[in-house]
Amino acid sequence: MADIRYDGRVAIVTGAGAGLGRTYALEFARRGAKVVVNDLGGARDGSGASQSAADKVVDEIKALGGQAVANYDSVATVAGGENIVKTAVDAFGKVDILINNAGILRDKSFVKMTEDEWDLVVSVHLRGAFCVSRPAFNVMRENGYGRIVNTTSGAGLYGNFGQANYSAAKMGLVGLMNVLNIEGAKYNIKTNTIAPVAASRLTEDVLPPDLFGKLKPEYVMPLVLFLASEANVDSGMIFNCGAGWYSRTAIVCAKGVTIGDGKRPIAVEEIQAQWNAIKGLDEAKPLGSVAESFAYMMPLLS
Ligand code: NAI
Repeated sequence: MADIRYDGRVAIVTGAGAGLGRTYALEFARRGAKVVVNDLGGARDGSGASQSAADKVVDEIKALGGQAVANYDSVATVAGGENIVKTAVDAFGKVDILINNAGILRDKSFVKMTEDEWDLVVSVHLRGAFCVSRPAFNVMRENGYGRIVNTTSGAGLYGNFGQANYSAAKMGLVGLMNVLNIEGAKYNIKTNTIAPVAASRLTEDVLPPDLFGKLKPEYVMPLVLFLASEANVDSGMIFNCGAGWYSRTAIVCAKGVTIGDGKRPIAVEEIQAQWNAIKGLDEAKPLGSVAESFAYMMPLLS
């Protein structure tokens, strides 16, 4: 197998001053990419800011002989997102790869969650992906090439106590991917989403201590780098990854049941009578767009 390289490619990694993002940025640079290391440098809960997180990773990349520039903007503002992309264009002329990775946590059980806790977490994860992806997508569209990787979470995909804000935002990233997948198709822009599990400051009090040391970010990194490479031609997919386990997960649509003829009313009792078939996942499969779901209804509409 030929080496996967990023020579001539420009990668933006948001939240690259620590954890998963740092491992991506280092490996992109080792394999020839020019890298924008974005990090606000705040605390785990999103408070504060510091340039040292991004600077340190840029120094590490330069020490390896790689090329990188730092950016300290928050992903959560339109101006910040535009400046992150401008940093790439000014320093390296374009953007080929965007890893939407920056993140924070403010966990609280749902009834205790404040508006601020909701808004801040949604703004970094979901609004942040919008603010950076929109200007990056524009540049990628002009160049007819792009690879975007969003970061969701098992908490969003499957649920986790105390993370309503985070889980809702993380599922929003799946919705964003679904549309970028469709809108990017004719420009060779591939967008995928990962659900990682890895030791970092975000998970130090979430993961059991005996597992923490084993769940190295370096096990997530190869999947992200593959998805961001020219070798990857798939788009619109979600992948679990951690400790060397890589698996696709998907939102699926089941075959379901047809009741009535599309003309007569349907009684509540008919739903009850068919409940097991309705909630069953027979012949479930992922769909490429909402239009595909209409195919199931067409016999009733003609
Ligand atoms: P981390 O806390 O080590 O890294 C996140 C980085 O994002 C930090 O360096 C932080 O300063 C930066 N950041 C935070 N807010 C920012 C903002 N507004 N603008 C720019 N940078 C900002 O955490 P980790 O674990 O590396 O997380 C990376 C991503 O992976 C996050 O999106 C997280 O939600 C996601 N994730 C991580 C999991 C894990 O097991 N570590 C599990 C599921 C998802």
